[in-house]
Amino acid sequence: MKESKQILSVENLKICFTQYVKGLKTRRITPIESLNVSINAGEIMAVIGASGSGKSLLAHAILGILPGNALCEGDITYCGQPLTEEKKIELRGKEISFIPQSVNYLDPLMRVSEQVKIGLPKKDADKQQKELFHRYGLKEKDGELYPFQLSGGMLRRVLFATSIRDNIKLVIADEPTPGIHPEALSTILNQLRAFADDGAAVMLITHDIVSALTVCDRVTVLKDGKTIETTMAENFSADGRHLQHWYSRALWNALPQNSFSVHEEVEAWL
Ligand SMILES: Nc1ncnc2c1ncn2[C@@H]1O[C@H](COP(=O)(O)OP(=O)(O)O)[C@@H](O)[C@H]1O
Ligand SMILES: [Mg+2]
Repeated sequence: MKESKQILSVENLKICFTQYVKGLKTRRITPIESLNVSINAGEIMAVIGASGSGKSLLAHAILGILPGNALCEGDITYCGQPLTEEKKIELRGKEISFIPQSVNYLDPLMRVSEQVKIGLPKKDADKQQKELFHRYGLKEKDGELYPFQLSGGMLRRVLFATSIRDNIKLVIADEPTPGIHPEALSTILNQLRAFADDGAAVMLITHDIVSALTVCDRVTVLKDGKTIETTMAENFSADGRHLQHWYSRALWNALPQNSFSVHEEVEAWL
């Protein structure tokens, strides 16, 4: 089998924040300690972990949109080259596409059709925007609305439409599916699969392991800012005996369709 090309590699990522507590007293928190993940062309890597395990910070570190008080260490490589802060700015929205977790990333003062057109080739931005709306079940007239006038599910679909661009090599989707009805859910998962089948590397950050497993190739499990296991998607099956780490097995077995046995460490997940 042909080795596929590595698009993204994150090695020994560490992120800490210095916070002021009382007056000039500071404390340092380190939500990401030693995080490793790599994604090849043509592959969907699901990144799973409880709330607060560092999934969004990982996405933001790759995109260069961490808050100013964050200190970031480690090596991030994109297509074999160090992904510097300048490169992140240059590639974001072009080769590197982001579907954020929060709909607050949309501009509240701009009509949603205009937001979807940003970054599309000028000469057929109108046409492409209309096609994207159609693809995601949005009506043409919805484009005239501002974000506050749309439901959460519709906003998620608008966000998704803003991520579809030509020449995408890396897609980072941060929990793209919550609150979305089943039909739109499968459209979105299928679109992520299509990105990968076209040769992009896709990072699918999610809580929903079951949906992710329908499209992903591998899974990286995070716990408290550390990578604890990266494994083939098919190892999440039966009683999870092929998973190496007890925590991955605990996550898997806590699902209602499995034995529903809730280990105290995964309670926060549910
Ligand atoms: N700007 C920030 N300042 C301080 N701590 C932060 C900041 N952003 C995130 N964190 C902390 O980092 C941890 C991981 O956050 P996040 O990556 O958003 O988790 P996840 O997306 O997995 O739910 C959380 O415990 C959160 O409190
Ligand atoms: Mg998050």
